[in-house]
Amino acid sequence: MTETIAHQLFNVTIDNITIQVEPGTSILQAARLVGGEVAPPAMCYYEPLKDSGGKCRTCLVEVAQGSTKDPRPMPKLVASCRTTVMDGMVVKNITSEKVKAARAGVVEFLLLNHPLDCPICDQAGECHLQDLSYEHGVENSRNDFKKRIFEPVDLGPHIQLHMTRCILCYRCVFTADQVSTCRNHGVLDRGDHAQIATFIQKNLDNDFIGNVIDVCPVGALTDKTFRFKNRVWFTKPVNAHRACETPNCCGETILWLRGEEVFRVTARKNEWGEIEKSNKTQKTGWICDTCRFDKKNTADWAIEGLAEINRHSVIGQGKYSNLEIPEETFESVMHGSKPHHLLDIHEVSNVNSHPKDLSQANRPMHSQDFVS
Ligand code: SF4
Ligand code: FES
Repeated sequence: MTETIAHQLFNVTIDNITIQVEPGTSILQAARLVGGEVAPPAMCYYEPLKDSGGKCRTCLVEVAQGSTKDPRPMPKLVASCRTTVMDGMVVKNITSEKVKAARAGVVEFLLLNHPLDCPICDQAGECHLQDLSYEHGVENSRNDFKKRIFEPVDLGPHIQLHMTRCILCYRCVFTADQVSTCRNHGVLDRGDHAQIATFIQKNLDNDFIGNVIDVCPVGALTDKTFRFKNRVWFTKPVNAHRACETPNCCGETILWLRGEEVFRVTARKNEWGEIEKSNKTQKTGWICDTCRFDKKNTADWAIEGLAEINRHSVIGQGKYSNLEIPEETFESVMHGSKPHHLLDIHEVSNVNSHPKDLSQANRPMHSQDFVS
């Protein structure tokens, strides 16, 4: 006789919302299932990259109850990207004053060496550190010391490194290891001297290395083919694809247009700012350098339509991606009336007497004017 073992899900409560998740789910992933502000910010964790997370501490949360079996709270705030849920766990994120204070402190630390060069930084408008400091930071800096300064470094023909902006999240290192064919860069030295650097000034120029630009949460790794050419919010993002022959390239991208000109090509990202899986091929959406840097004509692409941009993003200003055109016509909704009849308010209104023509009024109208 075969015994059926019931698949047990864990109950976890985050900011007073209880959901059920698979064992092994991290608190961050569980919070993302709830969505919105309940999901802690993450500057180093990146779901498509194995072993990412645990570096930046922006995702700290309070565990008010460890589990049903052991309801004691955890003594310190924990990194939600690296802590798995237990059955009956109770987590506080935005409902915890401790978390808010700690996160403000983390932002302060991340900004200790970060220059305030947003007005000239190509990442402005899509910088996760900019968003983080706006949403979770404090107004002033208490830092009186000099910031670390590095000269910008050309990492080959397509990528420039501004180490002064780097927050040492390691995402680009994992990307080079796991996505591109070879890694020529890493974090050299430790502590205050730690920096992203190539081995003996090597170029980063293998097939998939451009993806380091997409994973970098700040403006430390920038696309040299786009630098200083335009502000990202002046461009129009459209989804596009091409039949790319590079193995493992998903071929689905966003083209950032101004008129007909393609200013840059990037991979598609989900609501958490991470590379999105292709709907058609189920490949992870990494794109090759040919798609990214060499296909800068609209004729190279099949354009699908406006890319979906978060409404709160500055990039979304003036662009509406989800405009749904209703199938019904005015005539069918208005039982045969033509649209121009709708404009003749005097014909249909029971409030205004017919002879009153508002366009002829020579003074502001009062409530008495509208009584028929
Ligand atoms: S260069 Fe960017 S992706 Fe790489 S470690 Fe620094 S911040 Fe992270
Ligand atoms: S996102 Fe968890 S430590 Fe960085």
